[in-house]
Amino acid sequence: MPDSEPSGGDMIDPTVATPARIYSYLLGGTDHFPADRAAAEKALETMPVRDFARVNRAFLTRAVRYLAENGLDQFLDVGIGLPAPGSTAETALAVRPDARIVGVDNDPTVLALARAHGEDPAPSGARIVAGDVRRPAEILAHPEVRGRLDLDRPVAVLLVAVMHFVTDEDDPYGAVRTLMDAVAPGSVLVLSQVTSDLDPEGMRATARAYDRSSVRTAVRSGKEIAAFFHGLEPVDPGLVLLSRWRPDEHVLPGDDRIGMYGGVALKR
Ligand SMILES: C[S@@+](CC[C@H](N)C(=O)[O-])C[C@H]1O[C@@H](n2cnc3c(N)ncnc32)[C@H](O)[C@@H]1O
Repeated sequence: MPDSEPSGGDMIDPTVATPARIYSYLLGGTDHFPADRAAAEKALETMPVRDFARVNRAFLTRAVRYLAENGLDQFLDVGIGLPAPGSTAETALAVRPDARIVGVDNDPTVLALARAHGEDPAPSGARIVAGDVRRPAEILAHPEVRGRLDLDRPVAVLLVAVMHFVTDEDDPYGAVRTLMDAVAPGSVLVLSQVTSDLDPEGMRATARAYDRSSVRTAVRSGKEIAAFFHGLEPVDPGLVLLSRWRPDEHVLPGDDRIGMYGGVALKR
């Protein structure tokens, strides 16, 4: 991204780092400003956050492929992020060309770039809309969500690497419950988030680096992350370190040192 504000995003502030643009930088993408790169480099001093991004993205890709191969054809990806390989749309459409994907994000950069890239290979494909997971009812009422997804049929609800940007005062558990209550039996929750379990001190220092960004972080224990899945039936292997969730050849030695948990669970 050029080091000036791209057109079409009147609320974009290039001087304040955002999680979506930091993540783009860490994944080797092009959609970031100097403030994002500085925040990422600060975080890299305390934690291998580039590996966190890679391992998380690979988890998302494996989970979406697994679900598409097992009959899911509707995806609601909340906190979808900026364009990068292994996306929900790319992965799901490769398996199910008829899949329907709605992405939601609260970073205006994501919306501006989606518009710029003409995101919407109708009649299927991905549509990206503005929304905030802290206001789940608005997401569920959005005309694109209502128009593209049939909530009376199973939907994969993705909250991948987003809930650690929702602090407890914003009722993260209530938000997940509201989304899952709205979807049909047979729907699944796919969720990952960073944990303090492996390296509490390092994670605290990394969270401070992210505090320079547009959001506050909420690093959680495995037990606290498991609570997001309350009332849902875990899909094997349950909530695990991301490298242990149905690993493939892209999981590298040492990836089990990455402090992120993730899982998939079914709504009966
Ligand atoms: C680390 S990226 C993850 C992107 C993608 N889900 C993945 O795992 O590859 C986190 C994304 O969540 C978005 N996000 C953060 N807080 C959010 C909120 N309250 N509502 C919606 N999106 C949010 C950010 O803008 C960013 O795009």
